[in-house]
Amino acid sequence: MAWTLSDIPDQTGRIALVTGASSGLGLETARALASHGATAVLGCRSRTKAEAARRELLPTAAGPIDLLDLDLADLASVERAAAEMADRYGRLDLLINNAGVMAPPRRLTRQGFELQFGTNHLGHFAFTRALLPLLRHRPGARVVTVTSGAQYFGRLDFDDLQGERRYDRWKAYSQSKLANVAFALELQQRLDAGSGGDTASGSSRILSLAAHPGLARTNLQPDSVAANGSRVEALAYRLMDPLFQSAAMGALPQLFAATAPEAQPGGHYGPNRWGGMRGWPTAVRIAPAALDPEQRQRLWQVSEELLARAIPTGDCP
Ligand SMILES: NC(=O)c1ccc[n+]([C@@H]2O[C@H](COP(=O)([O-])OP(=O)(O)OC[C@H]3O[C@@H](n4cnc5c(N)ncnc54)[C@H](OP(=O)(O)O)[C@@H]3O)[C@@H](O)[C@H]2O)c1
Repeated sequence: MAWTLSDIPDQTGRIALVTGASSGLGLETARALASHGATAVLGCRSRTKAEAARRELLPTAAGPIDLLDLDLADLASVERAAAEMADRYGRLDLLINNAGVMAPPRRLTRQGFELQFGTNHLGHFAFTRALLPLLRHRPGARVVTVTSGAQYFGRLDFDDLQGERRYDRWKAYSQSKLANVAFALELQQRLDAGSGGDTASGSSRILSLAAHPGLARTNLQPDSVAANGSRVEALAYRLMDPLFQSAAMGALPQLFAATAPEAQPGGHYGPNRWGGMRGWPTAVRIAPAALDPEQRQRLWQVSEELLARAIPTGDCP
């Protein structure tokens, strides 16, 4: 039977932080969680868009809607946002690592990482590690990391993770989405072993899961076309439009991962029809590279090293 919004259990009293909640899947995820009673914290890089999102969500919200300034392409902002969550709430029940950018020309984050690897993977890696103490000991705490069908085409190129020697914007996107699912699985592994991060020992009740939306009509594709100026891709998206499902449908797998009692630790969920492009949430296969413990551990270690070497340029605490 199809799992729908009406299957989401009551979220009253739970704090749910959604990154990239200003549009698309993040906005729909926040809408669904807030309408089921959660305090929805919208982690957004644009205050103007965050305010607009809050106005849109308020009429159907059964819980408060709060805003958190968060630019995942700036590690100082990531640190400030995590510290702000600790100050405001001192706890967290759900973290949805949803924000993402797709296939721009080669650009860098504030600390000089390739934008897609830096935003989609490293920013969320740093944010999650900083928030683990708030998730610890919360009953039913979960971290959901949003990946993509692009993971199946991805490869973790440890010799050139930042595309410094050769940048292919689609390879970089696929790599970042493979990194998302590899991170989600490795986090579960480490939580089970009591080593999810410096401050996460003993937090084995936190679940880490991954989800992908299939093809969903959001700002991801128009923003990508605007950034790279490709008329061929603009035309391709127009032709492919009938294949795309709504953002609300696309958000269901991550909502399932975040709230369904039957979702499994380390589980990976996506749409059940058309080869995972659309449909209702179900368990879906994981890219083989993410199932390889050596690659996952190496990604984790390299990510830690990159973060340790990065010198935040802002007023990072
Ligand atoms: N739509 C699909 O078909 C599809 C398919 C597979 C996977 N996904 C994944 O789904 C996730 C959500 O994407 P979407 O489709 O909902 O696209 P979207 O409508 O473009 O939403 C992306 C969100 O990420 C935010 N964001 C981008 N860079 C950020 C940064 N540096 N710091 C903080 N937030 C940032 C955007 O903020 P602004 O509003 O300020 O730009 C926006 O809120 C992504 O991880 C994407 O890879 C989507």
